[in-house]
Amino acid sequence: MPDPRVIQTIGILGGGQLAMMLAEAAKPLGLVCVALDPNPDCPASHACEVIVGGYTDAEALDRLAARCDAVTYEFENVPVASARRIATRKPVYPDPIALETAQDRLNERRMFERLGIRSPEMRAVASLDELADAAASVGAPAILKSRREGYDGKGQSVLRSPDDAERAWIAVGRVPAILDRMVSFERELSVIATRARDGSVVVYPLNQNQHANGILCVTRAPAAETGGLQADAEAAARAILAELNYVGTLAVEFFQIGKGEGATLLANEIAPRVHNTGHWTIEGARTSQFENHMRAVAGIELGPGDPLGHAAMVNIIGAHESDETRDAHANAHWHDYHKPARAGRKLGHVTVVGSSPGERDRAVRSLLDAVAVGGPA
Ligand SMILES: Nc1ncnc2c1ncn2[C@@H]1O[C@H](COP(=O)(O)OP(=O)(O)O)[C@@H](O)[C@H]1O
Ligand SMILES: [Mg+2]
Repeated sequence: MPDPRVIQTIGILGGGQLAMMLAEAAKPLGLVCVALDPNPDCPASHACEVIVGGYTDAEALDRLAARCDAVTYEFENVPVASARRIATRKPVYPDPIALETAQDRLNERRMFERLGIRSPEMRAVASLDELADAAASVGAPAILKSRREGYDGKGQSVLRSPDDAERAWIAVGRVPAILDRMVSFERELSVIATRARDGSVVVYPLNQNQHANGILCVTRAPAAETGGLQADAEAAARAILAELNYVGTLAVEFFQIGKGEGATLLANEIAPRVHNTGHWTIEGARTSQFENHMRAVAGIELGPGDPLGHAAMVNIIGAHESDETRDAHANAHWHDYHKPARAGRKLGHVTVVGSSPGERDRAVRSLLDAVAVGGPA
């Protein structure tokens, strides 16, 4: 093992837009990144070297390990065995245990339970009979979610009544799943936090998120009127970070139930990586989630997460924005992921930082009129 204090080259499993933004954040810190991705033209290829190979390609994994002083990952479906293979040669941050937990919704919810973090009522199901049983006890409406490989609302099906059980079971692919009671939330919130190797933690202000068709379209941060919820989210994030002996940036998604004094949070899921709801931190916070992730992995002191104003991030989904739209929003920060357009695909994002929530929200409305944020998935 190399001396972990002299980390200079960081490997990234995955070469998507998150790897691209990690590599961009690493440069001013004097760190070099190398991503592993099957696609030579992946988004990260615009920001760093890419080793072209599959995530189970032992030779490619070994080449990445040989090239780097430490390795991280940018998506949670990296095969755990691949992360563990690298971990026998070089430090992997966050520890692959975080991958193992986040790859299975049931493991994730059991961790919440263990840590006393409240989440929606749910039942684990492994057959149509079990689903029919669970539907009767959880009640309707409910959401069936595959335990593995779901993202952006994929691998999910809503049960309007227990009679929908068979249709939902088939829609999700007849795989082990959880049946979640559909909660009627006030809004969706998430918290981003980074933990360094020495255990110090930086927590960002709560993000308020809007989804369409299961895909994030807008994040506003700091979320308004969070009251005691910020402290609750922070406590949950700190407990999870400690439980997973985590090094790097993590996201926790919540539903807010109730308003005002009586408001509470239910944790939905975690992402063991930098997160779409934290993209605003590039321009909107003292230190971005990407920079803090790289600082944590490299063993450098974390930077403060204080917001610089009232930020919003709008995802560009399915179709690229026009030059006219960019010109008309010259104060906005446009990020292009260098991906070919495809329905339902995240192609980029745009961030605005206002001096007041009102100014920010006017910019958001104008952006939402101008860019594609939904479209058929
Ligand atoms: N129990 C639930 N009650 C109400 N809405 C839900 C529930 N679970 C998921 N959703 C909605 O579906 C979206 C996607 O679900 P999520 O569990 O976050 O899966 P993923 O983001 O991995 O696709 C959530 O952001 C939320 O809008
Ligand atoms: Mg989610």
